[in-house]
Amino acid sequence: MKIGTPLSPSATRVMLLGSGELGKEVIIALQRLGVEVIAVDRYDHAPGQQVAHRSYTVNMTDGAALRALIEQEKPQLIVPEIEAIAIGALAEIEADGLSRVIPNPRAVQLTMNREGIRRLAGETLKLPTSPYAFASSLEEMQAAIDSGIGYPCFIKPVMSSSGKGQSRVTAPDQVAAAWEYAATAGRVDQGRVIVEGQIDFDYEITLLTVRAMRNGAVETSFCEPIGHVQVKGDYVESWQPQAMRPKALSRAREIAKAVTDNLGGLGLFGVELFVKGDDVWFSEVSPRPHDTGMVTMASQRFSEFELHARAILGLPVDVTLQAPGASAVIYGGVDSTNLVFEGVDEALTVPSSDLRLFGKPESFERRRMGVALSTGKDVDEARSRAKLAAGKVRPVAV
Ligand SMILES: Nc1ncnc2c1ncn2[C@@H]1O[C@H](COP(=O)(O)OP(=O)(O)OP(=O)(O)O)[C@@H](O)[C@H]1O
Ligand SMILES: [Mg+2]
Repeated sequence: MKIGTPLSPSATRVMLLGSGELGKEVIIALQRLGVEVIAVDRYDHAPGQQVAHRSYTVNMTDGAALRALIEQEKPQLIVPEIEAIAIGALAEIEADGLSRVIPNPRAVQLTMNREGIRRLAGETLKLPTSPYAFASSLEEMQAAIDSGIGYPCFIKPVMSSSGKGQSRVTAPDQVAAAWEYAATAGRVDQGRVIVEGQIDFDYEITLLTVRAMRNGAVETSFCEPIGHVQVKGDYVESWQPQAMRPKALSRAREIAKAVTDNLGGLGLFGVELFVKGDDVWFSEVSPRPHDTGMVTMASQRFSEFELHARAILGLPVDVTLQAPGASAVIYGGVDSTNLVFEGVDEALTVPSSDLRLFGKPESFERRRMGVALSTGKDVDEARSRAKLAAGKVRPVAV
């Protein structure tokens, strides 16, 4: 494994497709290893664009535009950071030998659509999941609920993330509104939904699972489990390690191994699982760093972003936990293109705490604009510190 000199003919070039707060950290990690990085996003001044060698604003669902840019920049690796991408064009680019897609085109395609990954997990791999059905009309959706899924259930567009278009439905009179919400908020393939029966879990985790090279072979490593709290399908708080019964932990690792072995390629995956007692259900997986994994910037020797950077470059990883840690999200609170964060000094008086302010050019009330990161003697102390620090940051529109 060799790394060249950035901005020279020997450069190791990586292109990020999607350059939000997670992509920004991957870019910084790659640059620390001497990689030349090109950041692409759908809007100007995205967080990752602010730290890359070069940046472009492109509609990434436009296959021709994407191909033209890749032919111009000639990255050896393409790293999708978002789900709404012209995957067909990327598969062709890889087949033509122009660049390699991380972790591979099939994994990106399967995970960008809930139908692909759920059928793989539930039907091909026969892993435990919530009961589910897919529907392309309100009538089909109602029929799926009536013929066994029942209430409460979750309705989600097949293509969406961060809870967008998602509803929890507890009674028949809410079904039509949930359909309407899913159809208007879903991306790309509008009008198809998954209906999932509710799993009554004790807690949910993200199991960061890394496929990386070591001594010439791919090896799978598991980070300590990350616990998190979701509000309306969006994560607000995460911590590591989540205490688990030994049986549940080994089951969680088995499920994560089965899914990531099947998806293949190199890189870090965020495997989302529901846990009750010794039972574990597969929920979904990101073939890339996970938002709840931002806690690893405080808790691990190498963050999930550094692990991803190493893994995709063919380098070995080290998933050691250094200290119990926690993250707490800072929302915009207001709609503004001129946001100012007050109280940053007060937040940083909280012991063992740090902040990331993502630098997003536009704030919305429920847009994630930053995160507080803390460690502590245990997870409880880390969580209190992260929440305290996040709460001291006051975004105001000027
Ligand atoms: N079948 C279910 N049973 C119980 N809880 C569920 C179920 N489906 C979703 N949830 C809850 O909603 C959250 C978000 O669901 P999911 O991960 O499918 O949505 P998402 O839009 O992909 O979110 P993200 O992109 O933030 O991961 C889950 O983390 C869980 O808290
Ligand atoms: Mg999720």
